Amino acid sequence: MGFQGRTMRAAVMYEVSQPLVVEEVEMAEPGPGEVMVKLANSSVCHSDLHALDGAWPPPVPIVLGHEGAGTIEAVGPGVTRHRVGDPVVLSWTPGCERCRFCLVGRPNLCEKLAETVHAGVMYDGTTRMRKDGRPIYTYMGTGSFGEFTVVPETGAVAVPSGVPTDVAAVVGCAVTTGFGAATKTVRIAPGDTVVVIGLGGVGLSVLFGCAAQSAGKVIAVDVHDDKLAMAKRAGATHVINARETDPVAAIWELSGGRGADFAFEAIGLKATIEQALGMLGTRGTAVLVGMAPEGVRFEADPTLIAMMELRIVGSNYGSANPPIDFPRILGLAQADQLDLASLITSRVPLDDINDAFDAMKRGEGIRTVIDFT
Ligand code: APR
Ligand code: ZN
Repeated sequence: MGFQGRTMRAAVMYEVSQPLVVEEVEMAEPGPGEVMVKLANSSVCHSDLHALDGAWPPPVPIVLGHEGAGTIEAVGPGVTRHRVGDPVVLSWTPGCERCRFCLVGRPNLCEKLAETVHAGVMYDGTTRMRKDGRPIYTYMGTGSFGEFTVVPETGAVAVPSGVPTDVAAVVGCAVTTGFGAATKTVRIAPGDTVVVIGLGGVGLSVLFGCAAQSAGKVIAVDVHDDKLAMAKRAGATHVINARETDPVAAIWELSGGRGADFAFEAIGLKATIEQALGMLGTRGTAVLVGMAPEGVRFEADPTLIAMMELRIVGSNYGSANPPIDFPRILGLAQADQLDLASLITSRVPLDDINDAFDAMKRGEGIRTVIDFT
């Protein structure tokens, strides 16, 4: 594919642990079955930091970013589902619509993702961005830290007009991942005791989902008091600062010795995954939501798992089908049943993107949104 396209500004990662470089790159027009999206907002997620700090080393150079929203700027040949000007949210699981998972409405598990999205390339194996003749990869099939991105048409999901683009952006990853883990991956029964460990954008969205399922005790665990205060506002009945109190012992006590029915781990650390398992009561379920750095392994007692009929369940992108779940979640926000705006704690221009990563490393704020407008 030629590079008859345009130039745009994007934040490019060249090396692990080095600041992103905000610069002009070339962006090709969309190919067959592809669309170009003009980004309005893109928020910074811990999965971007995983790439930047080398926990998941990506191909480089690459444009990170995968929580983005904007409008359709151009459509490639054969695109039927989008029109120029439509508001969209990017999805990092653009389904192939042919594999056995896509066919049953589970594009989050699409069999093609490994060779496309995870490799940073389009369906034809090439990239749409380049600089000085060198290809620039697209992180998580979205590459939303640039003024424009080109994605497969299934990687852009139409959303109702009138939704603020910053709120739409956070639905592109954190909210769908967390809310879906609590509402789609597992079924919480009214009155269940649930625990959420890690209260970033993902964990707080798990809390929103637990509150929507009318769980009984909703216990939130983090190491920052400001996150615990946010959790209370998001519906937690109890909060635990894991720096001061052993969360496993605290859960056994708070549950009257019965243990948790569900423990959601929304960080991806060996220690907190093992805590989640240790706080489960009989027939309890640990839901692994946080994505761990490559190579992380956890230990568990198989005898206890068998005797207590414990379950360990993975949740990828909240088990979401983005074309159905993005508008559904945004509808709840529009009906004032989900305060998604509360997740956005700061806004910066693209030039300040490295500051947003520094704040995340310090555990400050929930979501920083890049404003392209
Ligand atoms: N115990 C409890 N909470 C902890 C601990 C700990 N030992 N260590 C960190 N935390 C808290 C942080 O204080 C922070 O509030 O976990 C939270 C993580 O939040 P973010 O860094 O904002 O991460 P988020 O974007 O929500 O993503 C969480 O999901 O999508 C994946 O890759 C992503 O693995 C990441 C996870
Ligand atoms: Zn994410």
